[in-house]
Amino acid sequence: MSILLETNLPLSLFRRGKVRDVYDLGDRLLIVSTDRISAFDVILPCGIPDKGKVLNQLSAFWFEKTAHILSNHVIKVIDSSVVLNEVKNLSSQPGELPDSLIGRSMLVAKAERIPVECVVRGYLSGSAWAEYKETGRIGHIDLPSGMKESQELSQPIFTPTTKSDTEHDRLLTNKDIKDLGLEDIFEELKQKSLLIYGYARDYARTRGIIIADTKFEFGFSNGQLALIDELLTPDSSRFWDVSQYEVGHSQPSFDKQPVRDWLSASGWNKEPPAPMLPPEVIERTSKRYREVYSRLTGRVLS
Ligand SMILES: Nc1ncnc2c1ncn2[C@@H]1O[C@H](COP(=O)(O)OP(=O)(O)OP(=O)(O)O)[C@@H](O)[C@H]1O
Ligand SMILES: [Mg+2]
Repeated sequence: MSILLETNLPLSLFRRGKVRDVYDLGDRLLIVSTDRISAFDVILPCGIPDKGKVLNQLSAFWFEKTAHILSNHVIKVIDSSVVLNEVKNLSSQPGELPDSLIGRSMLVAKAERIPVECVVRGYLSGSAWAEYKETGRIGHIDLPSGMKESQELSQPIFTPTTKSDTEHDRLLTNKDIKDLGLEDIFEELKQKSLLIYGYARDYARTRGIIIADTKFEFGFSNGQLALIDELLTPDSSRFWDVSQYEVGHSQPSFDKQPVRDWLSASGWNKEPPAPMLPPEVIERTSKRYREVYSRLTGRVLS
């Protein structure tokens, strides 16, 4: 078991997100998934052992599995010291990439990013449930009346949002599509998003996991549309345990529920800084992440 909260590689930093550290290698990116965890939108002071490995290896699993639907940005998953050495030779200061990257990082093609979060929902949950209760719709889509929380939709829906550094994500409008120059590609983004979601949902179901909703990012790589970012991980998707699924209330999150429960009970006001989690909560959560991985892939995390 290993834990990594932050990387400080001698490479130029492309972006440090809540969970991932992304480095710029010219026409490629090195994406490192750390063990950071956020809850209620705040990064916690402690990490979850193996979480970054789960995110990285689960993304890699899904990228491979969905490549028949759409190509993706993956060049190499850094899953061994041999691959790490190959990548070291690409960086300006070879030798400076630590072994701790093995299992938790991948080399990808830097794409021209489409600044849209391509959200697909198969179930009525989270902000969509709140919106439905108030308006009877999700985004521009009218739903039948009388639906219950966490109910499966008769068919998955595409509710893309903006992806902006300055404003809160909001539903994409026709004007946004035009302003972003996406008129010609929008229908394809929708079709591919629905296809990938449908494929993953059906597969996950056979492994005892419901993918309630998820979000994809796309870009152009060598002029071709490609899936980028992370894919169908617990950080980009809502995973539920089939055996605990019950319509009519919110569902426990497969991975983060021990953290949310403990934080809620702690009386923390959800403003940073968040409190330190007790070791047993950290351990239980780490186990949940490893379980997501082994359930979905049928493999034990290496
Ligand atoms: N192949 C790629 N080419 C270009 N940009 C990419 C590629 N893959 C991912 N990205 C971008 O890299 C960034 C990764 O950041 P990351 O997801 O870690 O943090 P964030 O989205 O800024 O915030 P959060 O932590 O809330 O997700 C995103 O902006 C994503 O769009
Ligand atoms: Mg992100």
